[in-house]
Amino acid sequence: MSSGDRLDSLREVIEQHNYQYYVLDAPQISDAEYDRLFAELQALEAEHPERLRADSPTQRVGGAPLPQFVPVAHATPMLSLSNAFADDEVAAFDHRVREGLAAEGEIAYSAEPKFDGLAVSLTYEMGVLRRGATRGDGTTGEDVTANLRTLRSIPLRLRGSGWPASIEVRGEVLIWRSDFARLNERQREKGEKEFVNPRNAAAGALRQLDPRITATRPLRFFAYGLGAIDGAGWPSSHSAWLDRLAGWGLPVAGERRRVSGLAGLLAYYQEIGGRRASLPYDIDGVVYKVDDLAAQARLGFVSRAPRFAIAHKFPAEEAVTELLEISIQVGRTGALTPVARLQPVFVGGVTVTSATLHNEDEIRRKDVRIGDVVVVRRAGDVIPEVVRVLLDQRPATARAFVMPQRCPVCASSVVRSVDEKGAAAVARCSGGLFCPAQRKQALLHFASRRAMDIEGLGDRLVEQLVDHDIVRTPADLYRLGLLALAHLERMADKSANNLLAAIEKSKRPTLARFIYALGIRNVGEATARELARQFGSLDRLLAADEAQLMQVPDVGPTVAQCIRQFFSEPHNLEVIAQLCAPGGVVPQESDAAAPADGVLAGKVVVLTGTLPSLTREAAGQMIIAAGGKLSASVSKKTDYVVAGAEAGSKLEKARQLGVEVIDQGRLLALLDTTREQPAR
Ligand code: IVH
Repeated sequence: MSSGDRLDSLREVIEQHNYQYYVLDAPQISDAEYDRLFAELQALEAEHPERLRADSPTQRVGGAPLPQFVPVAHATPMLSLSNAFADDEVAAFDHRVREGLAAEGEIAYSAEPKFDGLAVSLTYEMGVLRRGATRGDGTTGEDVTANLRTLRSIPLRLRGSGWPASIEVRGEVLIWRSDFARLNERQREKGEKEFVNPRNAAAGALRQLDPRITATRPLRFFAYGLGAIDGAGWPSSHSAWLDRLAGWGLPVAGERRRVSGLAGLLAYYQEIGGRRASLPYDIDGVVYKVDDLAAQARLGFVSRAPRFAIAHKFPAEEAVTELLEISIQVGRTGALTPVARLQPVFVGGVTVTSATLHNEDEIRRKDVRIGDVVVVRRAGDVIPEVVRVLLDQRPATARAFVMPQRCPVCASSVVRSVDEKGAAAVARCSGGLFCPAQRKQALLHFASRRAMDIEGLGDRLVEQLVDHDIVRTPADLYRLGLLALAHLERMADKSANNLLAAIEKSKRPTLARFIYALGIRNVGEATARELARQFGSLDRLLAADEAQLMQVPDVGPTVAQCIRQFFSEPHNLEVIAQLCAPGGVVPQESDAAAPADGVLAGKVVVLTGTLPSLTREAAGQMIIAAGGKLSASVSKKTDYVVAGAEAGSKLEKARQLGVEVIDQGRLLALLDTTREQPAR
């Protein structure tokens, strides 16, 4: 065999062993034997540099570190899942699905483990791995191709044949428990800090700018779905797709199962729950997905989560510890949250030193006193909470907590109001942005990764900027100069310059991010995105009245009122004007616009009356997803009026103006022409 042939066959043999080991979990040779083959390939490639190929197993670890990650816009958003904890929530999910599909019999579901790792997307073109990205905020992630290439469980080239010209595979990056134990052992030996849990270690590894560091961390990958896919003739069910992906050499959990109806879901949950401890990796629940892709498309999405899938979570882990003190945290909107300071305790994968007590009512209801022995709970990334008190262990010295009458930060009076859901009394500092704590939180929110993404503007810096009265409002950030920063502690010239550069870089946010960054009460990321899509520009949003605001999916009377209140506050308008002054922030309006290639691209649609099976919100989302714009009122610019039962004056007006009136069936038929591909 010529050395060239040997080279090719070595590449194949090594990838085959990777596949045996990482995908089939059935290694056929020892590690030493593998290393020997690998070394031989490296030597041959060094001898014949002209035969080096990017998809060679030796080329998984790239060269120089990146200066920074490049943002990647996801072709279709990477969504999250709604959660269910109790069986009746799963029953309600199954019920909604059957109702939504007007199904007679039981629904076929794909049931899968819910991996406790990080979502990533892998794009293969003509079978070759071209790009890997993190989930990011769901719309935009970061290009981590070089890092993902180092995972031997990710094929650089798909096996077999018949792949689409381009395919985006989605899945989870995680670290197996045994690998994690070894990783920490290594850290200990080197005298370096141990990782808290496999998920954190995986997250850290994925965000390394130097792929050579990522390569030293034992990351693995499991595929659980698809992004968009071009062309027709593909499998029509999710489970068939997973089988197809497995056939192409991608790791897919062996625990996946096609089950039928509610009973099938609950039996799967029991089974996997029983096997949880013996699985090689951490899971925090199971995921159920309607298996039929056409049915998935019909069910569609609510806000950031699909209607066709749900995560059934395992109960959160609990631990017992001592409550040392109750302190008060002042939030962005002034809400005073009592926080339990705890004797540190390891629970749910991390050491917990504090837990939320939510509010005064909650403290009273649970009868929590300072000095008590308490049960704390933590699940996933959720803030730990105090579940209950072990009353039989209450010390005689335990004392009750009293909510202060004045804000512990700014001494403004504390007012009580009922929270948004009308459920609990909230104590609030009345100081508004006069209160340094509220100012700090508002600034931190403004600068946060999912808002304006000003890197380096963290807790400590904001603390100093506000305490020294250098920055009062977000607009002040854009007027900062080196001189002002020079006075701050631990602020070398380099970090000051970096901060100024990061602030400069943040001047072109998407409109959605900008709206979110303003910190309007009850306007989270999803709502901000909808507002941006609906109104298209800041000026139009500012001019919208409550009725127009309520046309936006997710916006009800409370949220509409919060938005109006925010924009009628002169101080807020002043800050916005300063932010957007010449040379300042320019929200990118086009970025927020609807997809330009949808079947309703550029069309203005008005919904009126009650549709037979779609809620107004669902219909609105489908229209927006297809590139349409929703409008509250009918005019000559309206392209379609979708009319349901009891449609009134809008239908009348449409007829007068000669605007095309369609019903739900026609709307769905219109939208369906976009779907020669399985919608995901
Ligand atoms: S499907 C459209 N399947 O859970 C639904 N997600 O809360 C997209 N996850 O960010 C997700 N295991 O990182 C899906 N078998 C599984 C999963 C899974 C873990 C994670 C994923 C996602 C999060 C959603």
